[in-house]
Amino acid sequence: MTTLTYLGHSAFLLDDGSTTVMIDPFLTGNPVATASADAFSPGAILLTHAHNDHIGDTVEIAKRAGSQVIATFEIAEWLGSQGVEKATGGNTGGTVPFKGGSVKFFPAFHTSSYSFEGQRVAIGLPTGLVVRFGGKTIYFAGDTALFSDMKLIGDEGLDAAVLPIGDYFTMGPSDALRAVTFLSPGIVVPCHYNTFPPIRQDAQAFKEQVEAQTSAKCPPLNVGETLDLG
Ligand code: NI
Ligand code: MN
Repeated sequence: MTTLTYLGHSAFLLDDGSTTVMIDPFLTGNPVATASADAFSPGAILLTHAHNDHIGDTVEIAKRAGSQVIATFEIAEWLGSQGVEKATGGNTGGTVPFKGGSVKFFPAFHTSSYSFEGQRVAIGLPTGLVVRFGGKTIYFAGDTALFSDMKLIGDEGLDAAVLPIGDYFTMGPSDALRAVTFLSPGIVVPCHYNTFPPIRQDAQAFKEQVEAQTSAKCPPLNVGETLDLG
């Protein structure tokens, strides 16, 4: 059994029963998070881009737990400079293996920088991640606008697609609904909404539209809840 737990905003935990993987582990300072970073010791941490609401607690978790961190090249290089020993840099089009699975980098339409010690450091590219883990294929879109090449990502054969619906910084619900038609996943999981006032959205309305207009299921997933991917 492989499970996906929503940790709030764009932070997720995958668990295949023998190892765990975190995606964009933003917990400290996340207004909707119900767990703290020190509760997790993942084998791997995967990052979509450098924004602080995605790198989050990566350095603290990876240094304590010895996690492998996989991100685009420049982000991995910067994490290495912060003392993360197993920082692995890939790039768009490439697939990077980790214990229990792999991650393939796809483009995303967004920006990628990191605010650190009063400076804004421009590091890396924004990406979407196709993660193969526990026999499942899951697309984490990261922060992105809608783009028609999502059809190519759909060709990867997606059991699940994790899509931002917050609008303002990313796709909103109507563009995310169009993304579902490009991606054809079995399950849709909305994220990147209701964390801050500008990205407030009605996830129940999105769910109803997805299930009425596509063949995908959109199970409600509150912060802290776990979904069985089968
Ligand atoms: Ni972002
Ligand atoms: Mn974000």
